Amino acid sequence: MKKRRHASPKTVRIGMVGVGGRGTFLMKTLLAIPGVTVNAVADRSRDNALRAQGIVKEKSGTEPALYVGGQSHFEKLCAREDLDAVVCGGPWEIHVPVSVAAMRHGKYAATEVPAATTVEECWDLVRTSERTGMPCMMLENVCYFQNVLTVLRMVRENCFGELIHFEAGYQHDVRMTKISKEGTLKWRGGHSLNKDGNLYPTHQIGPIAQWNNINRGDRFTYLTSMSSKARGIQDYARKLLGPRHPLSRRTYKLGDVNCSLIKCAGGATVTLYHDTNLPRPYDLIFRCQGVKGLYMGTVDGVYLDGVSPEHHKYEPFAPYLKKYVHPLWKSLEREAKKNGGHGGCDYITLYDFVRAVRNRTQTPIDVYDSATWSVITPLSVESVKKGSAPVAFPDFTRGKWRTRKPIPVRGL
Ligand SMILES: NC(=O)c1ccc[n+]([C@@H]2O[C@H](COP(=O)([O-])OP(=O)(O)OC[C@H]3O[C@@H](n4cnc5c(N)ncnc54)[C@H](O)[C@@H]3O)[C@@H](O)[C@H]2O)c1
Repeated sequence: MKKRRHASPKTVRIGMVGVGGRGTFLMKTLLAIPGVTVNAVADRSRDNALRAQGIVKEKSGTEPALYVGGQSHFEKLCAREDLDAVVCGGPWEIHVPVSVAAMRHGKYAATEVPAATTVEECWDLVRTSERTGMPCMMLENVCYFQNVLTVLRMVRENCFGELIHFEAGYQHDVRMTKISKEGTLKWRGGHSLNKDGNLYPTHQIGPIAQWNNINRGDRFTYLTSMSSKARGIQDYARKLLGPRHPLSRRTYKLGDVNCSLIKCAGGATVTLYHDTNLPRPYDLIFRCQGVKGLYMGTVDGVYLDGVSPEHHKYEPFAPYLKKYVHPLWKSLEREAKKNGGHGGCDYITLYDFVRAVRNRTQTPIDVYDSATWSVITPLSVESVKKGSAPVAFPDFTRGKWRTRKPIPVRGL
């Protein structure tokens, strides 16, 4: 039998900025996607940049250009003619400068989470994307989790009926990313010193926003936020470094458990947790509840009125994962599990981004989503500061949320 020849996919040329832990991982995953090349790498650290250059050379045989240093270096990378997109895997403070520089130079921008940390930064992204016509996608990989996309399909097929309430949490013990064994405060720990609120909201809110058509028929109107006292980081520092170490004697402003409530224009409500300073198992919760039943991620169970066999009892979700498999997972599961972290969802996230770049279409998570999900940080900080006063969400779409179409359940 004659072999069918497939046209090779049009090459998508990437520039990477920030190749520490996560950036290197994104870069390796990108290199596993057919038709992707990494032509340039920038990092403030020469060692990290050289390591990334070596990885690209080993995997693809070509040597990417290197840019070592701060702002002017990633600016130069973004100005290169031989790039279609710039992917930022650096710390939070460079996400907006890098994305804005990329769009100004006519490149697709992709950034790690959160896309921005202040209201003004969110508007910067929106205005730059509108002015340049270049998309900006926050790489919110939790939107591509297998259970999250299965629930999206179930929502679209009306399994839960009209949606009423959602709950999710970034409940992840990341104390080791805040304070090092050597006794230094890491950049992520620095954010816990002076800010109290939900500092990492996008993993929780992204899936909920897609299920509930936020910016696409509905919108978040306001939130109110409250934080517990702060003990976890100091306690961790004491155990790790001893009670006399300066980091053990510092006070950290970030309350150990922050809880925010969000109201949607359509009437649904959301509870969000941020819980990163205490010893605990990982749990994103993910409750999606409608008039006909709910999915509950903590127990990975589903209850559907008149369908589930036992009254008042969750059914296991596994059969639903098969019945309502999302087409992206159906097509990409094998490659994704082989090449991507977080159970394969990193590969699918980047695949979806690369596809948009290749086809010159809007990114599946666009600049309005990136801004709306990220702005929860400054809004929650403001609410906590004002004794849990309600704080209004900016409408980054300027009214377009009324007519924008919901995210479809879309295959390859
Ligand atoms: N989506 C996810 O599942 C996930 C998981 C982990 C981390 N993250 C995100 O990834 C990002 C990076 O986190 P990390 O843990 O890899 O951090 P990291 O500290 O390991 O890496 C950051 C890298 O950025 C470089 N850098 C710092 N300032 C720079 C500048 N001005 N110009 C160029 N490079 C610069 C550093 O030298 C380092 O190589 C964060 O935004 C984090 O929130 C996302």
